[in-house]
Amino acid sequence: MEFSKLIRLAAPWVLLLLFQTSWAQQTVFPLPGGMSQSGKTIHFNREAVLYYDTRLANEAEYLKIELVKRHGFEGAVCLNMPTRQHVPEGPNIALKLFQPDTILPDGWYSLNATAAGTEITAASESGVFYGIQTLLQLVKNKAGKAELPETIITGDYPAFRYRGMHLDVCRHFFPVSFIKKYIDLLAIHKMNYFHWHLTEDQGWRIEIKKYPELTRKGAWRSGTMVGKYSDQKYDSLRYGGFYTQDEIREVVKYAGERHITVVPEIEMPGHALAALAAYPQFSCTGGPFEVARGWGVFDDVFCTREETFRFLYDVLDEVAELFPGEYIHIGGDECPKTRWKSCSTCQNRMKEEGLKDEHELQSWFIQRIERYLNGKGKKIIGWDEILEGGLAPNATVMSWRGTEGGIAAASQNHDVVMTPGSHCYFDHYQGKPEKEPLAIGGFTDLQKVFSFNPFPAGLPADKTAYILGAQANVWTEYILTESHVEYMILPRMTALSQVLWCGERKGSYKSFQKGVYVFMESLKKQGYNYRKP
Ligand code: ACM
Ligand code: ZN
Repeated sequence: MEFSKLIRLAAPWVLLLLFQTSWAQQTVFPLPGGMSQSGKTIHFNREAVLYYDTRLANEAEYLKIELVKRHGFEGAVCLNMPTRQHVPEGPNIALKLFQPDTILPDGWYSLNATAAGTEITAASESGVFYGIQTLLQLVKNKAGKAELPETIITGDYPAFRYRGMHLDVCRHFFPVSFIKKYIDLLAIHKMNYFHWHLTEDQGWRIEIKKYPELTRKGAWRSGTMVGKYSDQKYDSLRYGGFYTQDEIREVVKYAGERHITVVPEIEMPGHALAALAAYPQFSCTGGPFEVARGWGVFDDVFCTREETFRFLYDVLDEVAELFPGEYIHIGGDECPKTRWKSCSTCQNRMKEEGLKDEHELQSWFIQRIERYLNGKGKKIIGWDEILEGGLAPNATVMSWRGTEGGIAAASQNHDVVMTPGSHCYFDHYQGKPEKEPLAIGGFTDLQKVFSFNPFPAGLPADKTAYILGAQANVWTEYILTESHVEYMILPRMTALSQVLWCGERKGSYKSFQKGVYVFMESLKKQGYNYRKP
């Protein structure tokens, strides 16, 4: 082709690319890399034929169901297509995989939507899945007809490999149906880790076959704090719930089909009152205890006696069976040392092991658990307190009390997930407190989340590879309902997904903000609540 002709053909696309990424209203979230649109529209009939590579049956099935659910397709016809087979021209969709040896960034995909057909090509199933998410946002319903702007994405892939959302189901409990709806939201945002906070002072939420009292007793409390913490008011309603192992398996499978890994959190040595209410013999004093009704940090924690480890190993055996992902989160945060200081068993343990203080005892505790889990092929994640008294050799650290923990862990060559309270706590206020539902405190509005840089200031330049990504935490002391959870995360998680998917090319806040509420309306149509500006 003549150079002048090439320029003539390419110019509008290049202009549109510039337009798209500078100040125009963003239309796809998180912002895809290398996207250009011609301004032309492709029309679909509602029985679009979906061709897919043999290896992509799961992704094709997902796309087919979502086209019906979100865009009113009559039901696309899915045709299994042997690799490299020719796809006929027309308004159809093809999902293609490169040969497995093609080297591209993890999660990479390209998308070509023209009158000749719509094609998503990737080097992995997850890449195809991310392309599908982009496609589902591009398709629009216009007066009962489905259409799609002519779009080319030359290559889009995530900047960070850990893109997470956490949910505390202990302070308030949420059923499997909502957990799936939450996971759907992660999938829409191309996020890939769901951190499921399953045990707490206020409730133990996972069935453990060997210790039935954990859920018979530990999953229920006799009342709940009502209103502001300073009011110290309680109701006297029995409250609780838990997930059976069958339900856990169902959630893990559902997440897996959406390329999301579930990270279960089993809290230790602190935040363990619900477990101790069920099995007081694993405490320092012997109890008795009640499942906590109020919020906060409690002095009664797991004792370092031998029986506690036998118990925790048994629990972790079952947890490791249920969750195929490589990570198990073992908590490690907010563990008062009060009981250990006056417990002869714990004090003897410190002498025997040559530990100089209770921080070293906590570190010894976590390292013992790590050795056990490493022996089962699992890795541990812990909150940044696990740095105190010495970091377990292979642990990944979640930096929540600011960024210092992340810097310290990365400096010791440990993997880090950033989740600082300043930008990643979605239980914080997102507007003026007097105009918002009661929250725990703080202030983290949409713009602040968008401004987040997962690489903390002060991180040595040669340690950036240890920052795996980031995660937002949703603690539910003051979040009682499903629609309130959605209110707290939307659109803040959209901003976080852009930070994590796009990295340095996340674009301007103005362009993001202009489009994000149109995106929120599309989520509303799918049944989600969100916070209006
Ligand atoms: C935490 O917020 N206690 C990890
Ligand atoms: Zn003790």
